Amino acid sequence: MRNIERITVVGVGYIGLPTCVVLAQAGFHVHGVDVNPRILESLNAGKSPIDEPGLQDALDEARTRLSFSDRMEPADAFFICVTVPLVPGADGIERADIHIVESAADSIATVLKAGDLVVLESTSPPTTTRRIHQRLAKKSGLAYDSFHVVHCPERVIPGAMMKELRENDRLIGSPTPEAAALAKSIYDRLLTKGSVRVTDDVTAETAKVVENAYRDVNIAYANELSVLCEKLGIDVFELIALANCHPRVNIHTPGVGVGGHCIPVVPWYLIEQFPDDTTLMRTARTINDRKPLWVCERVEEIVAPPAQICVLGMTYKPDVDDLRDSPSVDFARELQSRGYRVTVCEPNAKTDTVFEFENLTLNQALQKDFIVITLAHREFKAAREQIAAVPHYDCVGLLK
Ligand SMILES: NC(=O)c1ccc[n+]([C@@H]2O[C@H](COP(=O)([O-])OP(=O)(O)OC[C@H]3O[C@@H](n4cnc5c(N)ncnc54)[C@H](O)[C@@H]3O)[C@@H](O)[C@H]2O)c1
Repeated sequence: MRNIERITVVGVGYIGLPTCVVLAQAGFHVHGVDVNPRILESLNAGKSPIDEPGLQDALDEARTRLSFSDRMEPADAFFICVTVPLVPGADGIERADIHIVESAADSIATVLKAGDLVVLESTSPPTTTRRIHQRLAKKSGLAYDSFHVVHCPERVIPGAMMKELRENDRLIGSPTPEAAALAKSIYDRLLTKGSVRVTDDVTAETAKVVENAYRDVNIAYANELSVLCEKLGIDVFELIALANCHPRVNIHTPGVGVGGHCIPVVPWYLIEQFPDDTTLMRTARTINDRKPLWVCERVEEIVAPPAQICVLGMTYKPDVDDLRDSPSVDFARELQSRGYRVTVCEPNAKTDTVFEFENLTLNQALQKDFIVITLAHREFKAAREQIAAVPHYDCVGLLK
């Protein structure tokens, strides 16, 4: 079997960069390619552009086996770690746009050799791996069977990536045993705890998609319960805690919606392909997308515009610095459109503004007429008593 020594990672964002670093720590020589000059400038100055526990130290440690640039470099293996965004359709169905993955493949094709391995780590609609394999063959001029393409979905959680990259079980979706063995030889060197499971490419793609869809459906159930509980006059957080005492029940926590790059996005990869067979997933998307509006309506029942409202928490989940696709942003904008004077408190942003909103310290936030708690950040957990003393609406059960 081919000995893998050099790996080129395409896309050094939230997933690609920690992946580069753990690969280099495992002894591989790793080149990270990105199109974003801001990211490259930071990395070439030795600084991680992402605030992720343990990442900067690991980057410092593995520095001699790492390089970053906007140029594709030949390697034994290539990891694709770019995104698959959605494009809204006129029929209300969001469609996966794989052009970024295709463009990553096109640049790999310029240096691809017989025997090389391409690992698609990006969460992708079922059958993308096969389409990328065909594209690589066409663009490189190599025979389809002369190189290997597998799908290995990434399942790490921001905030614990450096641990989970080494300890989570990995899935290798491969069309052939040879490609699977080659990919396994890489992950076996990385993993300190998790095991590697091998399946075919479409099953691996679908497994990752349904993991995200499962969580979206579970959160939609919790969000639906929060609506019912308001009507029943009972506390949804107490209700869920009691229901979860059952050994086979695990209801997630309701919130102001569902955010991030994965959970609200990935279910559409199946819904768009099978619109008549995904009623549950589609309904979950509708429930979760409507939640920011529903919370606004509850706030309006308690306090009238133009009250000063501070939104506590603007990232898409607690204790991370990632503001992308956050329902708190939709919520703050909706409040503003209804005539409230809106500020925010996002301790992880470390900037004076978050999007168009002034970013206050927690002490400043507590001076406002009303606060809405959208995330249980650790800073907010440490100040429960002070927060509870201000008129508030608690979307996430911080004060329970
Ligand atoms: N972020 C997470 O928590 C997480 C968890 C599990 C899986 N994933 C999946 O991992 C994949 C990557 O997500 P991410 O959060 O790292 O995205 P990201 O946006 O942080 O990173 C993608 C990077 O790719 C770069 N890029 C775009 N086009 C490129 C090209 N043609 N050549 C080179 N670089 C290019 C971008 O500049 C960016 O830096 C997605 O499929 C996502 O669903 C993400």
